[in-house]
Amino acid sequence: MSDVMTDNIYQPDLMEVVQVRQHTPDVRSMRVRFLDEDKAKAFSFSVGQFGIFSAFGYGESTFNICSSSTWKDFIEFCFRRTGRVTDALWRVQEGDTIGFRGPYGNFYPMDAWKGRNLIFIGGGIAMPPIRCAIWYALENRKDYGDITIVYGARAVKDLVFRDELEEWAKHERVRVVQCVDPGGETSDWKGEIGFVPAVVERANIPADDAIALVIGPPIMIKFTLPVLAKMGLADADIYTSLENRMKCGVGKCGRCNTGPVYVCKDGPVFTLEQMKTLPADDM
Ligand SMILES: Cc1cc2nc3c(=O)[nH]c(=O)nc-3n(C[C@H](O)[C@H](O)[C@H](O)COP(=O)(O)OP(=O)(O)OC[C@H]3O[C@@H](n4cnc5c(N)ncnc54)[C@H](O)[C@@H]3O)c2cc1C
Ligand code: FES
Repeated sequence: MSDVMTDNIYQPDLMEVVQVRQHTPDVRSMRVRFLDEDKAKAFSFSVGQFGIFSAFGYGESTFNICSSSTWKDFIEFCFRRTGRVTDALWRVQEGDTIGFRGPYGNFYPMDAWKGRNLIFIGGGIAMPPIRCAIWYALENRKDYGDITIVYGARAVKDLVFRDELEEWAKHERVRVVQCVDPGGETSDWKGEIGFVPAVVERANIPADDAIALVIGPPIMIKFTLPVLAKMGLADADIYTSLENRMKCGVGKCGRCNTGPVYVCKDGPVFTLEQMKTLPADDM
């Protein structure tokens, strides 16, 4: 192979799909590993980064890496079936090969968060990008204070990684609050009923020396931010991850830019303080 080909930044690595899990009627996660052993050994990433995954013959899509960076030999991503590429990925089975480029973007400052209380707030399909940080914090438990996880979806059937939510709740100084929108509960539902911002407000979450990572639909984020402000969190301590449409993933094509930043390179992780300097419709 010529140097030109090996240096091609858009050339995906080949990944074997080793596990497919179905979470909801339209959400699956996949565990993939590099076919090339040397690449597998050399690969590392930080929680919060994303990858560009390809279904050959159909195209590429951007997904957060939702496994912890402490897990070796494989990475995981979770996707909602929504269009051309995700339809093709939906047909992929264990043993098949897909493409992967990455890791790309910045990451959650897990080192800077050491010693702080962590508040994770997610809505719907936004649990996967938070999941990697939760596992990372649990695997480095002594580095962090209290952990509160508030996770909501429209209905019980839309909650993802439900088994892991139960598992996280068993850890010391970890509180998991699950909620579904009114009408989305089942007869055996034991969690809260209400929209995420209201549930956060009534949950009496200790907010001293806390950081919050909030990811979800824009409407959820919009109404959660004032609640966090009321709890005393500073804008610099509230983080989110943006999902602007991307193409190259590496700051070349301009597809993802908002104001002066390329979300793929300068983000996707931003504090509310940073978000306030960006054009208003990006949050
Ligand atoms: C940094 C980043 C991280 C992401 N992480 C995840 C993740 O972990 N899991 C996940 O399911 N999705 C994630 N997304 C969104 C995901 O990339 C798109 O849903 C996916 O590319 C759709 O591809 P498609 O070809 O199947 O859909 P298309 O056929 O391209 O589009 C189908 C529908 O989805 C909409 N759509 C496509 N891309 C986006 C987007 N970026 N934001 C909002 N709507 C979009 C289109 O407008 C259209 O209505 C992420 C996006 C970014 C930029
Ligand atoms: S996706 Fe091309 S510049 Fe960000």
